Amino acid sequence: MSKIGHVAIIMDGNGRWAQGRLRPRVWGHVRGAGVVSEIVKVADDLGISALTLYAFSTENWSRPVEEVSLLFKLLKKFLLKERVRILSNNIKFKVIGELNGLPLETVDLIQKMEESTKHASGLKLTFAFNYGARSEIVRAVNRFIDSNQGEHISEKDLDEHMYRPETGDIDLLIRTGGEQRISNFLLWQIAYSELYFTPTKWPDFTSQEFTKIIENVAGRERRFGAISNNASAKNKERKIGASSLLNSKR
Ligand code: FPP
Repeated sequence: MSKIGHVAIIMDGNGRWAQGRLRPRVWGHVRGAGVVSEIVKVADDLGISALTLYAFSTENWSRPVEEVSLLFKLLKKFLLKERVRILSNNIKFKVIGELNGLPLETVDLIQKMEESTKHASGLKLTFAFNYGARSEIVRAVNRFIDSNQGEHISEKDLDEHMYRPETGDIDLLIRTGGEQRISNFLLWQIAYSELYFTPTKWPDFTSQEFTKIIENVAGRERRFGAISNNASAKNKERKIGASSLLNSKR
């Protein structure tokens, strides 16, 4: 079982990958969709509890119509192709994002897959589709206000009103494609996440690289704002306390 519970990925670099091969940008998405299948499989094999993939952001609507419609088609193709594997591996599938505004056929497919996997207890697989983190936060606050008029919202309340609270905080956020930014992805859930940026463009990303990243990050010490266990033990050994330092002459 992996120490890393929830992994999120910004699958970037598809367009540049294709352009570098003198192919249309959308070719990169087609190849990238194959990589999605591979990474879902390895995440499941490694015992990761949740995998969240950024497949379509609210900002992606500004891309050419053909590119947008290809991304919808790839989602459909993925769901049809992977349906049996998702069901037989007990994977619980969900889409986070604004379903209003997506083609009815896409919404229908998503809802059918969510419904048929709602009792699954294995990998929680989430596609962020027509997703933006700021609007997720605003939506959560509004949902809270709707049922708790006049009350203050707590961190726990906000957590519980996000799209998919059961996946919990992100342990590791990976971004492929060489850029080092978050691009409005899961802003609330990455507060204490480890970040890993790889120059590999998404269509070249492999299960081997994914496994190496997981191993690398599992070895990191996560302190959540506290100090390291080692440092804390050493301080105890030396009996160093804040008050003794404050009282010292220098
Ligand atoms: C960013 O690459 C990637 C996306 C906007 C979409 C990600 C989609 C996939 C990996 C395929 C979809 C698969 C499924 C199963 C839904 P970019 O085009 O911004 O790349 P660039 O930075 O090189 O331009």
